[in-house]
Amino acid sequence: TRRESLRSGLLAWYDRQKRDLPWRRTRDPYAIWLSEVMLQQTQVTTVIPYWERFLQRFPTVEALARAPLPDVLAAWRGLGYYSRARNLHLAAQDVVARHGGKLPSTAAELLTLRGFGRYTAGAVASIAFGEPAPLVDGNVARVFSRLFEVEGLPGDRVREARLWALATELVSPERPGDFNQALMEHGATVCRPDNPLCLLCPVREDCLAWRHGRVNELPPAKVR
Ligand code: ADE
Repeated sequence: TRRESLRSGLLAWYDRQKRDLPWRRTRDPYAIWLSEVMLQQTQVTTVIPYWERFLQRFPTVEALARAPLPDVLAAWRGLGYYSRARNLHLAAQDVVARHGGKLPSTAAELLTLRGFGRYTAGAVASIAFGEPAPLVDGNVARVFSRLFEVEGLPGDRVREARLWALATELVSPERPGDFNQALMEHGATVCRPDNPLCLLCPVREDCLAWRHGRVNELPPAKVR
């Protein structure tokens, strides 16, 4: 099936091409959570040293929960979007108070924590806990809009619903974390916004935009 061919194409490509990133060497849900929060608005190369220093300073959820907020903000200095650090701190306190210091393992429960939206809940549930939970970020949205010719502007409600439905259908039940990371990595490195590297794309034959010569039209640029 098309779904199987997309899954196996992306996973095989990821196994060959994935970047060796430090949070891919850990299975600690807290460390994975921290990486996803930092990566939301900040580039990989900037995040790496911050992630390493933050974990040295606050090695566990408990350590983070009992740290004074100014210390947490100091460790975040330079990353920007400080609400991410405040929410992380509040969520860590909640995890200690309500979950015995262990991060809950499902996307539905994670969504009840401060700072968790659909994306973060799906990322942590799939990567750290192996739940076949979907995720859509900007990279995944672009990949799907091309693979399936999803029309509509970024932010359009119908488009967003379609993208989440596709992510839900496609996520690999066997390797959900790797599959989600493969999609994001593919969007970041091959299915790029400009000059996408279609000749290197492992799933080109399954791509409607490629077949119809519309790769450069999708997704449509925001009207300004
Ligand atoms: N962007 C945000 N999180 C990511 C991850 N785990 N892998 C690849 N790209 C990402």
